[in-house]
Amino acid sequence: MCGIVGAIADRDVVPVLIEGLKRLEYRGYDSAGIAVVDANAGDVRRVRRTGRVAEMEAAAQAEHFASRLGIGHTRWATHGGVTEGNAHPHVSHGELALVHNGIIENHDEQRDRLRKLGYAFESQTDTEVIAHLIHYYRAQGNSLLAALQHAVKELRGAYAIAVIDKRDPDRMVAARMGCPLLVGLGEGENFVASDVSAIVSSTRRVIFLEEGDTAELTRDGVKVFDANGAEIQRDVHVSDVSLASLELGPYRHFMQKEIHEQPRAVADTIEAVMDNRGFSASLFGADADAVMRDVEAVQILACGTSYYAGLVARYWIESIVGIPCAVDIASEYRYRDVVANPKQLVVTISQSGETLDTMEALKYAKSLGHERTLSICNVPESAIPRASRLVYYTRAGAEIGVASTKAFTTQLVALFTLTCTLAKLRGKLDGDIEQSHLEGLRQLPGSVQHALNLEPQIVAWAEKFASKQHALFLGRGMHYPIALEGALKLKEISYIHAEAYPAGELKHGPLALVDSDMPVVVIAPNDMLLEKVKSNIQEVRARGGEMFVFADADSHFGESEQVHVIRTPRHVGVLSPIVHAIPVQLLAYHAALARGTDVDKPRNLAKSVTVE
Ligand code: M6R
Repeated sequence: MCGIVGAIADRDVVPVLIEGLKRLEYRGYDSAGIAVVDANAGDVRRVRRTGRVAEMEAAAQAEHFASRLGIGHTRWATHGGVTEGNAHPHVSHGELALVHNGIIENHDEQRDRLRKLGYAFESQTDTEVIAHLIHYYRAQGNSLLAALQHAVKELRGAYAIAVIDKRDPDRMVAARMGCPLLVGLGEGENFVASDVSAIVSSTRRVIFLEEGDTAELTRDGVKVFDANGAEIQRDVHVSDVSLASLELGPYRHFMQKEIHEQPRAVADTIEAVMDNRGFSASLFGADADAVMRDVEAVQILACGTSYYAGLVARYWIESIVGIPCAVDIASEYRYRDVVANPKQLVVTISQSGETLDTMEALKYAKSLGHERTLSICNVPESAIPRASRLVYYTRAGAEIGVASTKAFTTQLVALFTLTCTLAKLRGKLDGDIEQSHLEGLRQLPGSVQHALNLEPQIVAWAEKFASKQHALFLGRGMHYPIALEGALKLKEISYIHAEAYPAGELKHGPLALVDSDMPVVVIAPNDMLLEKVKSNIQEVRARGGEMFVFADADSHFGESEQVHVIRTPRHVGVLSPIVHAIPVQLLAYHAALARGTDVDKPRNLAKSVTVE
């Protein structure tokens, strides 16, 4: 969703801001803008555009924007429509400019108060309130930092803020509560950003601001203050985000690149297990043994694709560990009366580590007394792992495409590692079985690569899907979540309406939809449910439906005019959902390509969903 970048340097920062905003584009946005302090003219200059950063960049170039201090923003509209007037930065009295991520809940109340104080509003946003509030405290004689610190005390809600002021061209200030914000440390220059990718070409040394922190940046230094306004030293981290992971390289889309990166991503994620020569609690954190040893149940909380990863894990945990596992959509869990069990391990799954619903569900679980919390996450130091006692980082690398792909398969690897670890702690994983699961993991990158090699056959199928309006996905057991994931991928990037059902449920309703215009995708690995799935397929066939079956090489599926089969590699046992995720990703990608949609930035969607 929204993104922030800011820079104070001894060079022109406009290219830094533009490059940073381009790197934040993947998060999803509908307008962009920058504001700079023009020291020569003693002015704040601003350019904003709806649409792409490139359009705003062209306008900034046409107006010869250049400065040593500036802030930039990509906005995903919440309060107020997608208009230039609502785009950030917002300016108060032509003096100070501000960018903001998050939502201010008491904006109406503050707007009324500021109107009475003589402030006029130009936008429908909650953000403009913050700009005027800081201006108001400035007018009382406060420094820029003190004015910010006064203002944030009066805000309710979530914010990451960066502010510049033409009366103070050697300073930028920033604040964070509920939304991520980091400070980048350069040589004679410093930066703020909501995401390290925005500044990684300038510096890798970063300080992650904590809840309630404010910061003051000059060219020569950075000071951080805690929620009480006391100066504090925060740890400096060196980011390992690779520039290559942020570039397209030879690929046409990030989604395509990320699908093809999966053998590497899976191999990197299992590396810690292989180095450890087995499953152990220490993979999840220093006190994981104490946290996990007497766990009686698992509660998984997540959204979207991450939720589907959780649904697969339920099958693994209940069958391999033998303890109950509940999986909840985070936005539902947070508003229901939950019967808490302190011996439950609460596992949040999130690629970004920023998803607001997942974060709030975690906070709710903690408020109920759940102390055993584990985050499975792809972004180091993001909010959800920081709020969790245990962490397992997937090592998928930066995922830029809105449609999650390599994050999903690596989440599954992490969840399988969790399953085996819990089983081992409970004496349910004898040496031979552990060795066979380790071997399965070791072979997994190769099996994923074999599934990727099916791409040419899948392209041919995708062309048939391109003209369809609807599609049905079927799976059974631990492959039902893969059907759900396949339907989600198809709908989010190709805009074809797709639904997923457990194949056995077909005759209880959805069969009524089946005709020759409704392609039916079937995930049919060679497991104990294969014969059941074959019967379900006959039900579709008898109603004239056209079927597209992903089967294992040894499934003995007959093909006909109505039944098309692509054979994925040999069956890989319990890890089969990971391999079967690949063809449904490829099908969605190529169907979207054939329909000419914006694959990496599908309409109305954002990569990180940081609002409710
Ligand atoms: O970052 P998270 O894993 O918490 O994100 C959760 C969902 O928003 C995400 O998986 C979404 O469903 C993807 N666009 C699916 O491709």
